[in-house]
Amino acid sequence: MSEEFTNTAYSNWVSTKFIVVPLVMGALFLGLTLVWPGFAILAALCLLAGAYFIYSRRAFSPRGGNIQAKLWEVVLDRLDWDGKGQALDIGCGNGPLTVALARRHPDGRVVGIDTWGQAWDYSKAACERNAQTAGVAARTDFQKASASDLPFEDGTFDAALSNFVFHDVNDSVSSARDKRALVREALRVVKKGGRFAFQDYFAVKAMYGELDDLLETIKGWGIAEVAFLDTSTSDFIPAALKLPFMLGKISIIYGTK
Ligand SMILES: C[S@@+](CC[C@H](N)C(=O)[O-])C[C@H]1O[C@@H](n2cnc3c(N)ncnc32)[C@H](O)[C@@H]1O
Repeated sequence: MSEEFTNTAYSNWVSTKFIVVPLVMGALFLGLTLVWPGFAILAALCLLAGAYFIYSRRAFSPRGGNIQAKLWEVVLDRLDWDGKGQALDIGCGNGPLTVALARRHPDGRVVGIDTWGQAWDYSKAACERNAQTAGVAARTDFQKASASDLPFEDGTFDAALSNFVFHDVNDSVSSARDKRALVREALRVVKKGGRFAFQDYFAVKAMYGELDDLLETIKGWGIAEVAFLDTSTSDFIPAALKLPFMLGKISIIYGTK
C-alpha cells in the first residue's frame, strides 16, 4: 500500500512557500503593531494560515498521516489498467504515479509529462532520480509538456491518469468550459477501450459546471463508461483537511474510453 511512497523524494503538495510567506508576513504585521495595534488582526490571520499549512504539510507527508500517498493509491486503484502497452501520467510532479504504475506493471511503459513551473518544488531531474531509485528508469520517460496541448497523436496510450493537475493549469482560461477541455484533451490521447482515472475538483461548479452535465458531456464524446467517486469523504482524510480549497471537494472520474 502507501509504504511504496515513503522513501523517495516525491515532495509535498504544501510547498514550503505556503508556510514561509504567511509566517514572514505575520512577523511583519506583528512588528507593525508598535505603530498601530490594529495590525494585530492581520498578524494573527497570517500566523494562523502559516500554522494551518504546517499542520497540512505534516499530514500529507509520510512522517504524518501520509494522506498524499493514500490519495495516490485511490487514483491508481481506479485506473484498473492491465499493464499492457503504455500509460500517460498528466502533470506528474516528481513522478509518484508514473513510478508506481511502472512498478505495478513490469511489462508496461509509462510517460510522465509536466510543465514543472516555479510554483512547485518539482523537476524532471527529480522524476528521473525517483524512477532510477525505484528501478524503473528503463520503462519510464519524462517530458516537458502542457496538459492543455498534449504532444501526442490521438489514441497513443492504453491508459491515462492525472492527479490534482487540471485545476492548477492556467495556460487556458479557467472557465468551466475550458477545464472540461483539459479532460477532453486527456481522453483524446487514450486508445478506444483504454482506461482513465483523473482526480481533481470535479464537483466544483465554477471549474467544471454541473456534475451530471459534466458526466453526460463526457459520455457524449464517445466514452464507453464513465463513473464518479467522491474521494473527499474518505475516512483517512482528517476534518481539518476537508476545507474546500484543500481536500473538501476532491473526486475522481474514471472509466473506459
Ligand atoms: C498538486 S501538483 C500534483 C503533482 C502530482 N500529480 C502528484 O500527485 O504529486 C500539480 C501539478 O500540476 C502541474 N501542472 C500545472 N500546470 C500544468 C500544465 N499546464 N501541464 C502539465 N502540468 C501542469 C504542476 O507543475 C504540478 O506538478
